[in-house]
Amino acid sequence: MSHQHFVPPAEQDLTTLYEWEKLVEHAERFTTSLGTPTAVDTGDTLNLRKLFQEQPGRASDMTFQCGPLRVDLSKNLIDPSGLNLLVNLARSKKVEDYRVAMFEGQQINTTEQRSVLHTALRLPVDRDLTVEDAEGNTQDIAADVHQVLGRMRDFAKALRSGQWQGISGHTIKHVVNIGIGGSDLGPAMAAEALRPYQTAGITPHFISNVDPAHLEAVLDQLEQQGKIGAESTLFVVASKTFNTAETLANAHAARRWLLARLERTGVDVSTEEQVRQITAKHFVAVSTHQEEVEEFGIDPKNMFEFWDWVGGRYSVDSSIGLTLMAAIGPRDFTNFLEGFYDVDKHFSSEPLEMNVPVLMALLGVWYTSLLGAQSHAVLPYSQDLDRFPAYLQQLMMESNGKSVRLDGSAVTTPTGEIYWGEPGTNGQHAFMQLVHQGTHLIPVDFIGFVNPHVDHADATGAHSMHDMLMSNLFAQSRVLAFGKTAEELREESLDEALIAHKVMPGNRPSTTILGDKLTPRTLGALIALYEHIAFVQGVLWGINSFDQWGVELGKAQATALLDLLHGESAVDTGDSSTDDLIHHYRSRRER
Ligand code: F6P
Repeated sequence: MSHQHFVPPAEQDLTTLYEWEKLVEHAERFTTSLGTPTAVDTGDTLNLRKLFQEQPGRASDMTFQCGPLRVDLSKNLIDPSGLNLLVNLARSKKVEDYRVAMFEGQQINTTEQRSVLHTALRLPVDRDLTVEDAEGNTQDIAADVHQVLGRMRDFAKALRSGQWQGISGHTIKHVVNIGIGGSDLGPAMAAEALRPYQTAGITPHFISNVDPAHLEAVLDQLEQQGKIGAESTLFVVASKTFNTAETLANAHAARRWLLARLERTGVDVSTEEQVRQITAKHFVAVSTHQEEVEEFGIDPKNMFEFWDWVGGRYSVDSSIGLTLMAAIGPRDFTNFLEGFYDVDKHFSSEPLEMNVPVLMALLGVWYTSLLGAQSHAVLPYSQDLDRFPAYLQQLMMESNGKSVRLDGSAVTTPTGEIYWGEPGTNGQHAFMQLVHQGTHLIPVDFIGFVNPHVDHADATGAHSMHDMLMSNLFAQSRVLAFGKTAEELREESLDEALIAHKVMPGNRPSTTILGDKLTPRTLGALIALYEHIAFVQGVLWGINSFDQWGVELGKAQATALLDLLHGESAVDTGDSSTDDLIHHYRSRRER
């Protein structure tokens, strides 16, 4: 049992540390070689061609196994002494102590006085975790997690076997998750990624945006099922707080649609009791707030709980994953959790020098805070991981988009990596030109899988399409790292006027993450890897990775402006731009 009370150590400015000063000097050796037209530099500058020449075992020295993932860090712009300095920096910033504090359930989310225990969501059933708060109240966290998981499994089994039926006796074929941010991105991304595991004929759908077009697009798909569309649909209203405006608007609109469609098929929707019974068969909730769930009309026995020590963006493995479990089944959901746990074990036990989330976090800080990188691309060579970059955007940017530290003082370095990306090979035909020959330093994470779920022959019949996909991944990381020099181009007798245009500068960093196959377990591991990267970076920068105050003012102002968008009342928001926008909107709005 641990006591949750957490006293953050006095903030030690990253930039005052010995290792930081050394890293600043070290960074100059790379910056002078960045963006130069030749990849092979002379003198003291560091580049990847030279690093690979000097260190023959570099690939194996810098490739690590992290649960089911093989992570090759060798094409990163760092040499052994720089890596050593980065690891020592992590030690000076007490990453190991913070790691223990998080896993024990100490309240490291200091602005909300909360523990950060998403790691408890994947504890095996025989593991114990009891946490005590400052008032001496204890919670048997592991038992609570497994109790909810048990209820989720029973529910998913009832849906998948046809035992759970809609109001008119139809089995459920469509599960529509209504939620936004962490209550959408994780399950939506994972359901798509695990498409081959959707075996019970239940199609998952996701509605997040308050733009009515999103609701309409999903309802249209249900309408296409004819009269059984509504009768075979179940809605999962997923909201940690159960007061998110977008989610409540969508949930109410979905219920109105459901009642109208059911009425057309002859179901009586005229009394409160009938509506209550229909809601009980067609709506369940996932939330930490029972009162609000009841207020919406969902019976608490159809509510799947989670807890305030699970951040929204860290919640895909909580009951927020209910729609995912309904689609892929309880066994594969358990495999998914096992993948997270594989990486938790690695992260909590490996020394920092061999700890993949720590090393990747350090490299991210090195690029962002020392080499001036302004963004980080994540390129899954997997169409099924289409939504993974969007998922990472919330995970990384809501976590580490902060400019004050735990003690309220301003940060002294750039923080928060800007994540973006698209599946390869599509990106190669869109933005990769800029990554290869542009002026920005953009570290890339390539993600690929050795085996596909299905494969086809290429145009010639001599190769497989999956092999084509992966040869592109390997080629991209190779070209980024090693480029092509003017001398090499001249050896090919290229027209001199074209040489400057065709030089590939190289020396552009990337990490390659390979899994055997995109299974539930591999996906869980991949998510946990980035969760821990976000955490370590937060510790290094001295910020709270688990609050998100920056999103609140926009929500409050949207609510305040809503009334002004209709009616005749005077518009005086305090700034002429907003006033004019609202006047224009009012004058053109067709109602
Ligand atoms: O946009 C902020 C946020 O609070 C996210 O952190 C969260 O994932 C999302 O809104 C949805 O919140 P809820 O699950 O409470 O509806």
